[in-house]
Amino acid sequence: MKLLLLLVIMGTVSAKVEDLSGKMFTFPKETNTAHVRLTPTKQGYSAVTVCHRSFTDIKRDHALFSLATPSQANSFLIYWHAGRGQIQPHIREGRVEYGGWDYKSNNWHSICTTWDSEKGLVQIWFDGLPSIRKLANTGPISGLIKIILGQDQDTHGGGFDVNQSFAGMITDVHMWDYILSSCEIHNYMIEMNFTPGNVLNWSKLDYEIIGNVLTEKKVEVCH
Ligand SMILES: *[C@@H]1O[C@H](CO)[C@@H](O)[C@H](O)[C@H]1NC(C)=O
Ligand SMILES: *[C@@H]1O[C@H](CO)[C@@H](O)[C@H](O)[C@H]1NC(C)=O
Repeated sequence: MKLLLLLVIMGTVSAKVEDLSGKMFTFPKETNTAHVRLTPTKQGYSAVTVCHRSFTDIKRDHALFSLATPSQANSFLIYWHAGRGQIQPHIREGRVEYGGWDYKSNNWHSICTTWDSEKGLVQIWFDGLPSIRKLANTGPISGLIKIILGQDQDTHGGGFDVNQSFAGMITDVHMWDYILSSCEIHNYMIEMNFTPGNVLNWSKLDYEIIGNVLTEKKVEVCH
């Protein structure tokens, strides 16, 4: 019975620390289950930068990066609101709306989001271009951190909604507990040398796949 249970667990969950350089996560199906859990090297942040690249053709809302604490499901969420055509960072439940970006389907898009707890200001860099700085929320992000790709956490580690799920590819996820300079963000965007994340490092990622998510060689467009 125990062996059977172990086999069942092994069949759906695989945890490891791996260098994912040149690789991506493929989310091949819209579900309310498939996701990747990322384990950060540090807990508790007074500033954050998160960068990721993604490729999708889904037209509805979807979460690109979901970080929850026990008291705040939207502790650091990067969300595409399709109806309004906005990238919406939610930081400590404070929502900021950024419209006017060319979030084209079937293209890689690099999105970096910075925030500091003292001023509470957020800024995004969409394909290397900066947004204005807006007030999200002040105060540090604390409590047990759960970071998920592929689903939007409406509770701490769960509460998934298929209509907010991600389908497509995600790569180069990095997180820092400080604000990156604009030059570092530029270097991230053009895939040049930059300092990898000290909280999430794509080259040394501690992750666990739950359900139907694949690790594959990154799709490159040959010019
Ligand atoms: C998801 O959206 C579809 C289409 O709008 C709707 O029919 C369905 O009920 C929604 N599912 C959930 C779980 O909200
Ligand atoms: C990120 O991972 C790479 C590969 O293991 C390592 O060389 C580098 O020091 C790491 N960087 C940080 C900031 O942890």
